[in-house]
Amino acid sequence: LNEEDFKVLVAIEHGMARHEYVPLEYIAKVTNFTDDKLDMILRKLHRLGLIQRNKGPYIGYVLTTFGYDSLALRALVKRGVLERISADPIGVGKEADIYEGVTPSGEVVAVKFHRIGRVSFRNPRRVRTYVGDRRHISWLYMSRLSAQREYEALVLVHQHGVKAPRPIAHNRHVVVTEKIEGVPLFEVPPLEDPEDVMYQVIENVKLAYTRAGVVHGDLSEFNVLVTVENGREVPVIIDWPQWVPSIHPSAESLLRRDIENIVRFFRRKYNLRVDVEEIIKQVTQG
Ligand SMILES: Nc1ncnc2c1ncn2[C@@H]1O[C@H](COP(=O)(O)OP(=O)(O)OP(=O)(O)O)[C@@H](O)[C@H]1O
Ligand SMILES: [Mg+2]
Repeated sequence: LNEEDFKVLVAIEHGMARHEYVPLEYIAKVTNFTDDKLDMILRKLHRLGLIQRNKGPYIGYVLTTFGYDSLALRALVKRGVLERISADPIGVGKEADIYEGVTPSGEVVAVKFHRIGRVSFRNPRRVRTYVGDRRHISWLYMSRLSAQREYEALVLVHQHGVKAPRPIAHNRHVVVTEKIEGVPLFEVPPLEDPEDVMYQVIENVKLAYTRAGVVHGDLSEFNVLVTVENGREVPVIIDWPQWVPSIHPSAESLLRRDIENIVRFFRRKYNLRVDVEEIIKQVTQG
């Protein structure tokens, strides 16, 4: 893709804030390209699967998720954050695809593409453009918001020593963090010291709540990766977009649910029995 291709993609991106399908006239006006030139570029972008054409009453275009990915990746490359990215994802969740990336200095990183409003796992290009009916809230906007929120949480908790991936950069719907070499808690081969790992998770929840002012809100054995540092099993908490501040009206009930999820997992799988109320007291009152 060249600069002119990106200029058209950016015009469509901006137009999507106000149009379900961005009218051809709008793109022409913003880019100032001749009809022939614009036509050629739009064909190319369409052929590459970066934009989708309106089949309705007027000619209009929207970005596909792939088109939006291209804009974010280009920005991250320009800013010197990324140099390469893996062809296949290293993780696919309900609301994100995670790829491995490499920075110009050679650091291996995790690149998380937020995909809110994705219709199906198998067909990531099919996306809803509207949520609700009258207000124009697109998958694009929601995915960007989700990434922004996650980045914000990561910065906060990381400042206060919570074990979470170190945030490196974000752009649009993409968050770049340190890559954790670990296995999700739910599929780790039996832990050597489950009690130690559980209390480390609780300690991180406490640090996040009392120091960073953050409640994770979606904590479970699926969002904890277990790494090994100097022979010790160390849990790292991932996946923060749904966090709430500790002063939020729902903070306490979410904190309780987070803790209950973790305690339940360790009871089921490792037969560890602890008093949940005691732990909640310990987390909230120091
Ligand atoms: N920083 C990271 N380093 C290494 N692997 C990661 C990292 N972040 C995510 N992953 C991998 O990608 C998977 C999904 O990540 P994450 O939980 O953040 O996405 P998600 O779409 O929100 O998942 P879900 O909605 O299913 O909980 C993780 O289980 C993990 O295997
Ligand atoms: Mg997850």
